[in-house]
Amino acid sequence: MQLTFVAGARPNFMKVAPLLIAARRLRLACRLVHTGQHYDEQMSERFFDELELPRPDAHLGVGSGTHAAQTARVMAGFDDELERHPADAVVVVGDVNSTLACALVAAKREVAIAHVEAGLRSGDRRMPEEINRVLTDRLADWLFTTERSAEENLLAEGIPRWRIHFVGNVMIDTLLRHRQRALGRSVLAELGLAPGDYALCTLHRPSNVDTRDDARNTVEALREVAARLMTVVPLHPRTQARLREFGLLAALESSKRLLVTDPKGYLDFLALMSQARLVFTDSGGIQEETTALGVPCLTFRENTERPVTITHGTNQLLGVDPGRTGRAVDEVLAGRDPDGRIPPLWDGRAAERILEILAPAVASGAPTGCETQTAVA
Ligand code: UD1
Repeated sequence: MQLTFVAGARPNFMKVAPLLIAARRLRLACRLVHTGQHYDEQMSERFFDELELPRPDAHLGVGSGTHAAQTARVMAGFDDELERHPADAVVVVGDVNSTLACALVAAKREVAIAHVEAGLRSGDRRMPEEINRVLTDRLADWLFTTERSAEENLLAEGIPRWRIHFVGNVMIDTLLRHRQRALGRSVLAELGLAPGDYALCTLHRPSNVDTRDDARNTVEALREVAARLMTVVPLHPRTQARLREFGLLAALESSKRLLVTDPKGYLDFLALMSQARLVFTDSGGIQEETTALGVPCLTFRENTERPVTITHGTNQLLGVDPGRTGRAVDEVLAGRDPDGRIPPLWDGRAAERILEILAPAVASGAPTGCETQTAVA
């Protein structure tokens, strides 16, 4: 039995890592394919070292481009990969362009597909990830979910219940595995920060940084945070490029209350996140990681595809409103924010559960990608 795992972009690496560990434990034959969607040392290579990921068996080297060009390059490269190295099942994670591109290739080759982190929905088709999620789930044979809302979303879209498996969160598997090690990092001291006395901010969503008005609004919100707490901002390359283009970067970098840095590796970022007074972000995964850590999270977005971080966790949705951001930081500093609890099955064993379901099913030649999907609704 041959399983092929796909990773392409930064948020994929911490999700495939525990799956590969669990597969290795079962002595399954695995290939890891890196599409190359992210390629900077800081966005990719460093994660392989820190997460002790094996070197990829294949690297497609697709790089950046328009969504169409990037998706097309991943598809062509992955088609070639499956031609040379046939797989019994392809495992894709998350919602990036590489996720959908590889699922589509596998489906056309009638190779079974497992989607890890299935069923999350923001309801906002302006997010490229939302399109990737809906389509990947439509193609997948096994849909592994992180929270109950995902199952409801999938059932409402006509996905049969028997394809859906609530297993927990592989990203949290990785977080729990590395949490202690991260606390030993010296990143806080290097940045001159005291535990519990700074904010950590990450902002990269196209809707927040890609136009001049949106970028200006985002910078204003950052200033609201920095007016109240020392603020660390590891900048995604996209944000760095846009802010420079709009002439907004120099002022940020010169502010004494804002520490603008390059993107951080996994362990340094985990160290910063777990000891922050609060996190301000537009990321998807960070909403979940802060919930797992019990750190207050203020999300600079209109919606979230991860509602359990609000119903159970420490997350609050702010919209994209700088004024509300300042008030929300005041509330956190006054101790008036959700305590949060750990969502069901976020216990570090999600990858094991996935492989326990997947391995016997693939070995017995269970569902293939060409099988007709019957709607239950
Ligand atoms: C992608 C994911 C997003 C995820 C984010 C995390 C999609 C649709 N989006 O967005 O869900 O939250 O990764 O980082 O797949 N760049 C570099 N170096 C790199 C990678 C990118 O400089 O290693 C720059 C390039 O200018 C590129 C831009 O960042 O054009 C955007 O990269 P891309 O992979 O298209 O999307 P992300 O914004 O990173």
